[in-house]
Amino acid sequence: MQRARVLSGVQPTGALHLGNWLGAIRNWVHLQDSHDTFFCVVDLHAITVPHEPGQLAADTRKTAALYLACGIDPARSTVFVQSHVPAHSELAWLLNCVTPLNWLERMIQFKEKAIKQGDQVSVGLLDYPVLMAADILLYDADLVPVGEDQKQHLELARDIAQQRINARFGRKGADGEPIPVLKVPEPLILKEGARVMSLTDGRSKMSKSDPNEGSRITLLDPPELITKKIKRAKTDPVMGLEFGNPERPETDNLLGLYAILSGKGREVAAAECAAMGWGSFKPLLAEAAVEALRPVQQRYAELSADPAELDRVLAAGRERAQAVAQATLERTREALGFLARG
Ligand code: AMP
Ligand code: TRP
Repeated sequence: MQRARVLSGVQPTGALHLGNWLGAIRNWVHLQDSHDTFFCVVDLHAITVPHEPGQLAADTRKTAALYLACGIDPARSTVFVQSHVPAHSELAWLLNCVTPLNWLERMIQFKEKAIKQGDQVSVGLLDYPVLMAADILLYDADLVPVGEDQKQHLELARDIAQQRINARFGRKGADGEPIPVLKVPEPLILKEGARVMSLTDGRSKMSKSDPNEGSRITLLDPPELITKKIKRAKTDPVMGLEFGNPERPETDNLLGLYAILSGKGREVAAAECAAMGWGSFKPLLAEAAVEALRPVQQRYAELSADPAELDRVLAAGRERAQAVAQATLERTREALGFLARG
């Protein structure tokens, strides 16, 4: 039987943090055993906000290397750079022309980012979810593992595929039903660790764009820095750690991190820390974080020492991705009625 196809991606902007790892990449690693997995570095998305041209290529490499360091195995997964496969931009254009403007204007992430940027908002930022839909739809993905914040974008990709392409442009089969042009994907949102919150505010998401570096732990932070950031993390005056108390978002977040990073799981972690003060808990969490990140950092250092290896992985990934993407693009062009290109 054919394995279900999975596709996901992360932007090469800033350093990947615990939210990216626990909410996204770590889950991809497990999927490699059971699914046909495609993982891209979405560099075209990275220029939807003002970017540093001198930094983009290096950040793209770094993100790809971190995928591998986190356990993405190029022998089992297709790892590639989004802009290396031009079909992404091309399908995005076709989808643009059938996507209602007001679908994009109501995207929460757009509204949030637009507010932050004032009058600097580009058309690309508004169009971001359509490009993301193209990323997914090009590969006939069955499942898209993402953090909860991306759920709305996934819904949009489904609506575009189903209502705007398949319903309008699918040929009719013998039974009168349209034959789908594009596969309609499902989101895969894992509960535990799906949303990692900021170290400095338990009510806001850990994010690459938070100006306060102390709000996040990046995957390449050295042990002393991890320990320092956790030491300074926001706490509350209550003794003992617990889950599910809406008055104590920091406790919920840090205990959740400990449960995952220590590998103990929520029940054991909650029992262990139920009567613990912050002074005892924080060093415990710091040690769990340092230990969990140690193998990732070690593998990253090895990859950095051998850039040719990463080049080979990305070239092979590009070739495999290109073959799949091109076929979907041609199918869509045909459905939309374009003159075939020889
Ligand atoms: P971004 O950092 O926005 O490029 O996100 C890349 C991936 O990481 C997406 O799948 C996000 O859903 C996930 N992600 C980003 N921040 C967090 C967070 N704080 N908690 C959980 N997942 C996150
Ligand atoms: N928008 C996603 C994020 O910020 C990144 C992304 C781009 C993506 N294209 C994708 C995720 C396709 C999954 C599938 O996290």
